[in-house]
Amino acid sequence: MVYEEVLANARTCVGEICKACPVCNGKACGARIPGPGAKGTGTVAIQNYEAWQKLCVNMDTICENKAVDLSFEIFGQTFKAPVFAAPIGAMKLHYGDKYDDLEYNDILVSACAGTGIAAFTGDGTNPAVMEGATKAIKAAGGKGIPTVKPWDVNTLAEKFALVKESNAFACAMDVDAAGLPFLKNLTPPAGSKSAAELKEIIEKAGVPFILKGIMTVKGALKAKEAGASAIVVSNHGGRVLDQCPPTAEVLPEIADAVGKDMKIFVDGGIRSGVDVFKALALGADAVLIGRPYVTAVYGGAADGVEALTAKLISELEDAMAMCGAHSLKEITRDMVR
Ligand SMILES: Cc1cc2nc3c(=O)[nH]c(=O)nc-3n(C[C@H](O)[C@H](O)[C@H](O)COP(=O)(O)O)c2cc1C
Repeated sequence: MVYEEVLANARTCVGEICKACPVCNGKACGARIPGPGAKGTGTVAIQNYEAWQKLCVNMDTICENKAVDLSFEIFGQTFKAPVFAAPIGAMKLHYGDKYDDLEYNDILVSACAGTGIAAFTGDGTNPAVMEGATKAIKAAGGKGIPTVKPWDVNTLAEKFALVKESNAFACAMDVDAAGLPFLKNLTPPAGSKSAAELKEIIEKAGVPFILKGIMTVKGALKAKEAGASAIVVSNHGGRVLDQCPPTAEVLPEIADAVGKDMKIFVDGGIRSGVDVFKALALGADAVLIGRPYVTAVYGGAADGVEALTAKLISELEDAMAMCGAHSLKEITRDMVR
């Protein structure tokens, strides 16, 4: 199955709002929430995508002619490429009736593990979502990253018990979910957390902890103080705060400040292997890709995930070979402009 077929299939079943566009650039869905759009003016998702497109890659083929190695190691695990599926939740609300969160995560987690990468899973007010996600991760040999919402301490203790049971190699929290309208004034309680509160939470998690939703050097330093093993430079695809800068713009300064101390993931509008290359050149260790993995699952289930991953890998390989980088460590900032 090629990626174009996957998208054509997705167009028949991915709900009213997502158009499974040839390139997912935030324009067709705009500010549509419910739906996969962005908050307020709806421009943050568009700008995330465009910021990667403004960057060019510097070709240099005067180098040894040898195979490119994309393998990525983190927290004792090796992956085929530095690419992860981002957590996406509330599928029925945003993408119509085809899949609920449990069905979506089941397909995504096993397909990602099968293709040599891994998926982050989302969390919801319904406890069955996290239970299902961690079961899927357990079945995939722990190759998945459950992402918990910034709940109160008691709810988090229940979630961490599920994480342990799943053998997940890491756990994440989308600390920026404090900005999601659906989490306000609901049970269980959730909201922003101080560095001191996060420190206690991270100590209890028992696995390497990833804080998702970091957009400033100040925030990254607080994540480091809290003991996070990694951060995701992310504005939640524009869904939590309008008028955020694009992630490509803030990534270099954050990588300069904390890149030696923590692993750095980035997401938001990364759509091709060339974009992945640009993200690594700007200081990320790996990327998360969100909306395109949704259309991959809707358009082809495990085959769709495999087609998208294969496309990203072949584009990344090509960019590396053409810029003279034979391993991820050889990708440097001077390779983009
Ligand atoms: C419909 C939808 C639901 C999402 N749900 C979650 C979630 O439950 N947890 C989370 O951390 N991020 C969630 N996100 C944010 C994504 O993980 C990701 O940060 C964002 O979509 C940017 O990546 P992209 O431009 O590749 O989609 C969601 C995004 C969308 C579009």
